[in-house]
Amino acid sequence: CGIIGCVGRDDETLDVLVHGLSKLEYRGYDSAGVALSGERVDVCKKSGKIEDLREALESRTLGGAAGVGHTRWSTHGPPTDENAHPHLDCNGDVAVVHNGIIENYQELRDELVTAGHTFKSDTDTEVVPHLVEDALADGLDNEAAVRRAIARLEGSYAVAVVVSGDDTIYAARNDSPLVLGLDDDAYYLASDVPAFRDFTDRVIYLADGEFATLSAEGWRVSDVDGDEVDKDVDTVDWDPEETGKSGYDHFMLKEIHEQPRAIRQCLRGRVDELSGEVDIGDLGDLSPTGVQFVACGTSYHAALYGAQLLRDAGIPAQTFLASEYATAPPPIGDALVVGVTQSGETADTLSALREARKRGARTMAVTNTVGSTAARECDHALYIRAGPEIGVAASKTFASQLAALNLFSLGTTRIDGAREIIGALRDLPSNIQAILDDSNAESVADTYVDSDAYFFIGRGHQYPVALEGALKMKEITYKHAEGFAAGELKHGPLALVTEDTPVFAVVTGDGEMARKTIGNVKEVEARDAPVVAVTDGQSDVERYADEVLEVPETHPQAAAVLANVQLQLVSYYVADKLGRSIDKPRNLAKSVTVE
Ligand code: G6P
Repeated sequence: CGIIGCVGRDDETLDVLVHGLSKLEYRGYDSAGVALSGERVDVCKKSGKIEDLREALESRTLGGAAGVGHTRWSTHGPPTDENAHPHLDCNGDVAVVHNGIIENYQELRDELVTAGHTFKSDTDTEVVPHLVEDALADGLDNEAAVRRAIARLEGSYAVAVVVSGDDTIYAARNDSPLVLGLDDDAYYLASDVPAFRDFTDRVIYLADGEFATLSAEGWRVSDVDGDEVDKDVDTVDWDPEETGKSGYDHFMLKEIHEQPRAIRQCLRGRVDELSGEVDIGDLGDLSPTGVQFVACGTSYHAALYGAQLLRDAGIPAQTFLASEYATAPPPIGDALVVGVTQSGETADTLSALREARKRGARTMAVTNTVGSTAARECDHALYIRAGPEIGVAASKTFASQLAALNLFSLGTTRIDGAREIIGALRDLPSNIQAILDDSNAESVADTYVDSDAYFFIGRGHQYPVALEGALKMKEITYKHAEGFAAGELKHGPLALVTEDTPVFAVVTGDGEMARKTIGNVKEVEARDAPVVAVTDGQSDVERYADEVLEVPETHPQAAAVLANVQLQLVSYYVADKLGRSIDKPRNLAKSVTVE
């Protein structure tokens, strides 16, 4: 799931690789390994944590100036030492690390086995070193051999290859991210910038079909025909400090606390302080007459919220789970198709966007990652500017997505009460800070840490918040949690409600919606379930609640962001009390680059 490569650091190469792998841990993984090429290629790989790899390396001497490393998140074959990357050819001269899925691997593997190659793993990746080996045996030089192997692959890949006796890294990408890092006399390559961000801030994002060679002498990017491609060198403007925990026990808690700053960054320069108008003009001409959102996981909840904002403004808008959209796309008409994806690399979302484009739609990415595949492939990109998020479970990126979707609806449609919404957006950072300074979420977590299950209900803008509250709870506590539209509770889920299942009810404002949700709260109360009200105190929901999580009074759209902060904190503290692996929950990955 993560790749790192390094040349030009002489005998520090191995340390740089292991450091890079530890920086990529947040992407989720179940095995790790490295390969160094000097006179020969040396490989060390282990299933388990980076610590296990470090331990294995203690009894080994790996030499070589060019190296590649990998953290694997299993797709083909279980997490074993054999299935960990790098993978080798028969002679042990070619080592390969790969992200993605090689769709025609079985066909290639059968062909190679018939030709006499023996395979040691169950992975799709292992066909690559063997293909390179074949090409070398045919007399091709190293680069030509790697190119010939890559040309045979179908599917998604970011691949990096080292060959014995050659201090060069050969790399290629198709549908899977790969970025180069440039220092004065050392060069890096990774699936994500944090892997080498401690060493350099100058980066080049590779595009699909491009091929890179890196050696101590320099770097070169070329196209499929081998012709040099003129690449822009970008500067990454966040510093390594930002990827450290800054004194918090977990990245997630730190990122929850970074939300005021994240929202400020999202709004900066886009909301005119004087006129109170929103300017997202850098997106070009967007006047959507209809919008289809596609997204997964937390981003899907943000998309549900975004669609509601547009419908509030009279624009027809729907939200689709990206994996379903890609399978059975709806009629698009002249809708703008918007992919909401913090990473910009989620395979399901990319597929949905590609499907939409194939059908002639204009597309837009709402993403945190500049240079990501979604950002580059879409006609427009709206950056949420949350800064890097290391915790696998999304926190600040969700808040920033909600803020950015508000900017999108305000900037492209005519909305009654826009000025009031803008004011509420501007107040978000200080209102979030007030919650962070004074939340009783930890004591609520303490009260309910042993519950059987947790339910979350909300209506309107608070419905996606209920879904997100439940997703967060299940992701990091491994406990059963479900979110429901408040009105839907009585149509089935109520059968699950008992005195051991607290129900978190998000109730803001004092209008019709609050009144109806309070009706649902009473239904729950009558079944003896504990009720935790997340409320701004405008209604009388507190009368029916066992516990109250307060949020400052604001516009209902902004209240969604605030209520979510309280729910994030409850999930965090429940997970912490249960001793869970909060930043890297079991079985989950930050960005899932397979469908
Ligand atoms: C993974 C993560 C989720 C995330 C989803 C979508 O499943 O574990 O936390 O919400 O991907 O990610 P994206 O990068 O597209 O927002």
